[in-house]
Amino acid sequence: MSAGHETVERRKEEHLRVTAGGDVGSRVRPGWADIHLLHQAIPATDLAAIDVGTEFLGHRLRAPVVIAAMTGGHRAASEINGVLADAAERHGLAMGVGSQRAALLNPGLASTYAIARERAPGAYLIANVGAAQLVPQHDQPALGRDELRRVVAMISANALAIHLNYLEEAVQTEGGRAAGGLRAAMAEAVRAVSVPAIAKETGAGLSRGAALDLRDAGFRALDVGGLGGTSFAAVEARRAEMHGDGRGARLGEVYRDWGIPTAVSIVAARPTGLPVIATGGVRSGLDAAKAIALGASLVGVARPLLTAALAGGAAVDAWLDQFLEELRVGVFLSGGSCLADLRSVPRVIAGETRRWLEDLGYADPP
Ligand SMILES: Cc1cc2nc3c(=O)[nH]c(=O)nc-3n(C[C@H](O)[C@H](O)[C@H](O)COP(=O)(O)O)c2cc1C
Repeated sequence: MSAGHETVERRKEEHLRVTAGGDVGSRVRPGWADIHLLHQAIPATDLAAIDVGTEFLGHRLRAPVVIAAMTGGHRAASEINGVLADAAERHGLAMGVGSQRAALLNPGLASTYAIARERAPGAYLIANVGAAQLVPQHDQPALGRDELRRVVAMISANALAIHLNYLEEAVQTEGGRAAGGLRAAMAEAVRAVSVPAIAKETGAGLSRGAALDLRDAGFRALDVGGLGGTSFAAVEARRAEMHGDGRGARLGEVYRDWGIPTAVSIVAARPTGLPVIATGGVRSGLDAAKAIALGASLVGVARPLLTAALAGGAAVDAWLDQFLEELRVGVFLSGGSCLADLRSVPRVIAGETRRWLEDLGYADPP
């Protein structure tokens, strides 16, 4: 095994350990507290009859939830991906796996991702690579068309997510900071695969300009990955502390709250007309109802499901049952009978989120 494999595998293990146990949340909130859905005292239907099923890129989901990309690429990840995939299959959800670069470097690790397809034969599965790997970094060449097709095939994926994580790369000691030619490389990657490509931020959000650029590059959906949940600057700060790297520890703390809150990012991305996945600080079914009312098609949840998965399948089921009940109550109390009704619920946008939207001139489309 080369040093390159060992570094990527060790980093993935450390991410899991640091994220599960550490102080890694952003201090800026995702914006849900500023969104108010208008209460309807007279419900439209029985709570038990509320249907939160939806379509995403031609696939039927029983609830508008993606188990967000987290892991794979080291031995312990197999168990976690297996538990999460069981839940995706049982609840009819979508699921992303973590960056598959580790398995390109060391094909022996492919099974740590492929387990997701074995355990969730009917789920909408999303393959994952980093945008930074689409351009040459240090001594590593850019990923080629064949490698992109291999990551899709590895999990028989329904879609490929290309994640943007330049905040993390900037903080990480060994991060890939080259970005020249990135837009063209991303457009080329979209064309290289036969499944739809999803552009995915990882905690710093999408501006309207970035969202429109990504649409023009051919992406078929946008995961806004906004500020307000897990902060990868904070994750890298904790890792840097573990390694006695003062530069990374300080940089990660300074940039811990950098980015565009998730609620603002949803509104930013709407004029693209693409399906939007709202990830970043989604912690309750009410947060999800608000994200969908703002225009998201799905929500993504990472860290709470990682914590649950580490406790086992029953904990993941309990977390999801509670979350989905909270979402159904949101539809019920705002006078709807199905998920799509949330789109037309009268809503008030207050506080910081209103300020962001006004200052940026991001009109909130009805
Ligand atoms: C341990 C861990 C590993 C992650 N690895 C990846 C990854 O490989 N690829 C990716 O696109 N996002 C990755 N993410 C980011 C998540 O998909 C998500 O965007 C982010 O954690 C915000 O969601 P949250 O606030 O619900 O945690 C990772 C998140 C966690 C917690």
